[in-house]
Amino acid sequence: MTPNLVTVFGGAGFIGRQVVRELAALGCRVRVACRDPEQALALKPAGDVGQITPIQANIRHEGSVRAAIRGADAVVNLVGILYESGNQRFQTVHEAGARRIAEAAKAEGISNFVQLSALGASSESTSLYARSKAAGEAAVRAVIPEAVVIRPSVVFGPQDDFVNRFASMMRIAPALPLVGGGHTKFQPVYVGDVADAILKVLTDSAQKGRTFELGGPTVYTFKEILELIMRETGRHVGLVPLPYDLAKVMGFFMELLPVPPMTRDQVELLKSDNVCSGNLPGLRDLGIEPKAAEIVLPTYVDIYRKGGRYSPVQPV
Ligand SMILES: NC(=O)c1ccc[n+]([C@@H]2O[C@H](COP(=O)([O-])OP(=O)(O)OC[C@H]3O[C@@H](n4cnc5c(N)ncnc54)[C@H](OP(=O)(O)O)[C@@H]3O)[C@@H](O)[C@H]2O)c1
Repeated sequence: MTPNLVTVFGGAGFIGRQVVRELAALGCRVRVACRDPEQALALKPAGDVGQITPIQANIRHEGSVRAAIRGADAVVNLVGILYESGNQRFQTVHEAGARRIAEAAKAEGISNFVQLSALGASSESTSLYARSKAAGEAAVRAVIPEAVVIRPSVVFGPQDDFVNRFASMMRIAPALPLVGGGHTKFQPVYVGDVADAILKVLTDSAQKGRTFELGGPTVYTFKEILELIMRETGRHVGLVPLPYDLAKVMGFFMELLPVPPMTRDQVELLKSDNVCSGNLPGLRDLGIEPKAAEIVLPTYVDIYRKGGRYSPVQPV
């Protein structure tokens, strides 16, 4: 049941680029729906002539969402934000935007729908990000009960925001803070495994209506992740414990920057572990063997060892 035409919202983003490349390799036509279609142009060579089409869509605007979905067989929603700015609020993007896409999909008769959520999504969370992700899941399921929800832990791979951000900081900073002591646990998952999972659920009707938690093979504390990045980049910086309250004060001031490196809401997120519960299906249930960070990181953080710096180009 390979869909013919798939609309991927957020398809020019980090996970989206991998999903679009894999869908094209499978032979699907792909509409890459994003606010600035120029961001998706570099993806076109990943497909044949006319196979990958960037299309302008803002999930806060219904008309553009409907136009992006028209005629599609399946929809993947990868739109997400890490901090609020201007009209980009957690509620409007993660909840209202997801509902708008689901309603437009339903109007087109589409039930093959994948919603990217996040581990930790919960209506009980003290983090607005996590509550809005849970609200987005519920909004989509209320419209399309067959929708598949995917909750990854932190995702790594070439061009990621997480490993590259800390590796970049290690080039210049003498020390990095360990919020809450750096004890929060994560289960980093490889972007290729996340994309494989999305393709599996899109092409297997037996997965409809399920929720998956995606994590890699190893659980690390935040401190252990920074130590791993230091090992792989050959950099050594101090790691300084920073109590949550102090981190929130720093977050308050950082929120004044155009791209805040840390927000108060992210500090709230760090108070809970970000690991698979074991109560929901995961990668292995989809026949995917999760790749270890130790195998993948050397393939893209070596530039820091050589004194290079991260340039956020979009590879095909
Ligand atoms: N990466 C991770 O570690 C991770 C972990 C757990 C869950 N997730 C979830 O996985 C999904 C994809 O993450 P990612 O890492 O690929 O993020 P990303 O690189 O930031 O991609 C998100 C995309 O959403 C687009 N977008 C934002 N607001 C939009 C709007 N109003 N209308 C249309 N498009 C909009 C962004 O485009 P613009 O350039 O226009 O802003 C961007 O291309 C997100 O839902 C995220 O919450 C990611």
